[in-house]
Amino acid sequence: MRLILFGPPGAGKGTQAARILEHNPGVVHLSTGDMLRAAVAAGTELGKAADGYMKAGDLVPDDVVCGLIVERLASPDCEHGFLLDGFPRTLSQAESLQSELDRAKIDIDRVVVLEVADDLIVERITGRRMDPETKRIYHIKFSPAPEDVSSRLVQRADDTEDACRARLAKYHSETLPVLPFYEARNKVVRVDGVGDPAEVTSRVLSALAR
Ligand code: AP5
Repeated sequence: MRLILFGPPGAGKGTQAARILEHNPGVVHLSTGDMLRAAVAAGTELGKAADGYMKAGDLVPDDVVCGLIVERLASPDCEHGFLLDGFPRTLSQAESLQSELDRAKIDIDRVVVLEVADDLIVERITGRRMDPETKRIYHIKFSPAPEDVSSRLVQRADDTEDACRARLAKYHSETLPVLPFYEARNKVVRVDGVGDPAEVTSRVLSALAR
């Protein structure tokens, strides 16, 4: 399985990636957001360069992100399949990815677009919390954490309302225009991302089976 999970910030890409992988062991989850946050936390040069863009809800420059992904895709564990989450996000990233896949003589199977209206996104993002120990994602209203976990939950630095609106604007101006690239290759399936997460997973799995 070689999949791209596509959708606005807060559409549920991370939530659904974890659930899809439960059904597809061996497939590697490649989240550029997670990779960049790890670089920021480790204080690497790349992390220092990315930090300001991320806090402002802006996109990290293409060459930085493409370098990260190209290196990771060359790892042996990706031979069994991968699920890209948050990449590509610009046409230039999609073209770089395609050249790498062409070089390796492989292709993406599907691009799954999780569709969620903008007005729901802000509520999802500002209410998101993460367990730093298990990395599990919760929501204060839609998916509350158990009592013994709630005291250690953290909020992402870019989950403020202002940064969320900036990320949504970037999604509309830079990321949505990537879809015609994959539509022309007949890869796109659209899934309603609203409803119970388990219901959304069933929709994704049936769309992939079609
Ligand atoms: P990234 O980490 O990729 O953030 P994002 O795309 O904005 O997506 P999110 O992680 O915010 O949301 P999600 O869709 O995974 O939703 P989740 O499952 O958590 O990127 C962060 C930053 O890094 C970017 O802004 C940029 O600066 C940089 N970056 C990353 N990739 C880049 C690239 N390729 N190029 C350039 N820069 C890049 O769900 C959200 C909340 O909703 C959770 O609380 C969850 O519990 C809840 N929820 C999920 N599903 C449901 C449901 N069905 N019903 C109710 N609640 C739900």
